[in-house]
Amino acid sequence: MRQVAFHRPAIGPDEEREVLDTLRSGWITTGPKAKRFEKEFAAYVRARNALAVAHCTGALHLSLWAMGLKPGDEVITTPFTFTATAEVMGYLGVRPVFCDVDPGTFNLNPARVEEALEGGSHQRVKAIVPVHFAGHPCDMDRLMKIARDYNLKIIEDAAHAAGAARHMDGRGMAKIGTIGDLTCFSFYATKNFTTAEGGMITTADDAIAEKIATASLHGMNKDAWKRYDKSGSWFYEIHDLGFKYNLSDVHAAIGVAQLRRADAFMRRRTEIARRYNEGLKGIEALQTPYSEAGIEHAWHLYVLRLKPEQLSIGRAQFVEALRERGVGVSVHCIPLHTMHYYQSAYGYQTGDFPVAEDIYSRCLSLPIYAAMSDADIDYVIDTVKAIERENRR
Ligand SMILES: Cc1ncc(COP(=O)(O)O)c(C=O)c1O
Repeated sequence: MRQVAFHRPAIGPDEEREVLDTLRSGWITTGPKAKRFEKEFAAYVRARNALAVAHCTGALHLSLWAMGLKPGDEVITTPFTFTATAEVMGYLGVRPVFCDVDPGTFNLNPARVEEALEGGSHQRVKAIVPVHFAGHPCDMDRLMKIARDYNLKIIEDAAHAAGAARHMDGRGMAKIGTIGDLTCFSFYATKNFTTAEGGMITTADDAIAEKIATASLHGMNKDAWKRYDKSGSWFYEIHDLGFKYNLSDVHAAIGVAQLRRADAFMRRRTEIARRYNEGLKGIEALQTPYSEAGIEHAWHLYVLRLKPEQLSIGRAQFVEALRERGVGVSVHCIPLHTMHYYQSAYGYQTGDFPVAEDIYSRCLSLPIYAAMSDADIDYVIDTVKAIERENRR
């Protein structure tokens, strides 16, 4: 039986060469490779500043901190995301205010955000954290307008969306990383391109960039990373609170090589999504992902929805059947408000966000990554179709 993993990173000779180069250079933690990765990533998303960090979780934490969020403040975000988006709010004593998502894109629904703000019960909201779920950019024109109207900061969680873009009024196509006040990316092992673990923050604000660069390495002054090198100085000063969120050169070396392949990876993901859409269209019990004009989707995830009323098995059994036939599958995401921590810490309850819950109850993520072969894609399509056929009501 064929085996198609849910994910496999595309690591080749280029990555091996860059990592070896770093290992042999005598400088393995944050240094020239991380600086080069920042510069090249900034060019890739056309951002003014890019700051490499240890992971997207740290990127989100630093970003909220740099925006001055304080205990008791509130931040609007989506419940349909990975816990990192909201857990960092807890680090700062900030309350996540969840708003339900759009049933097509699975992204934060601007209409629900407006309702939450108009209702008057959220006077302490200081920021919005939209998540470009699966790589589908959020409706940033509407979210930016809301942010302007209510004087809120926008910190984008672009963990799924490196390379994505969307049309913005008066601007044309804008890359994710150039829209909100700050944008946070992930280079975790399963992401569109990886550093094994890693993240990046982009911003057009030089002062904020400087503040974050300093804070990401214990609050030590600029270029303190050079303090053990002959070009650096042993003296450093601490001006502000700091964190240990710097990205090592060994990780950055993988990123430098992966970035050169990022466009090719994205083309391949787009091609896989097109083939899935084509292969699974018109099947009664399946709902393929929604896309729209004016966006460049990063296709980090391919989320298929089942129509339970047309099937004799549920989502869990469908996932199991795919696994039994060698297809790696996952489920994204388990809505945060249905989880113990978010219920006990913030009083959320199952039933609060019906759109997110409906998506979750019937979604599954198919394998989508650059290292998949055409035969892998065909096998996934054929297997999904066979299970649907065998279990149609
Ligand atoms: C939406 C979202 N935000 C944040 C993160 C955290 O990323 P990292 O693992 O780089 O900290 C993830 C990780 O999967 C994610 O899916």
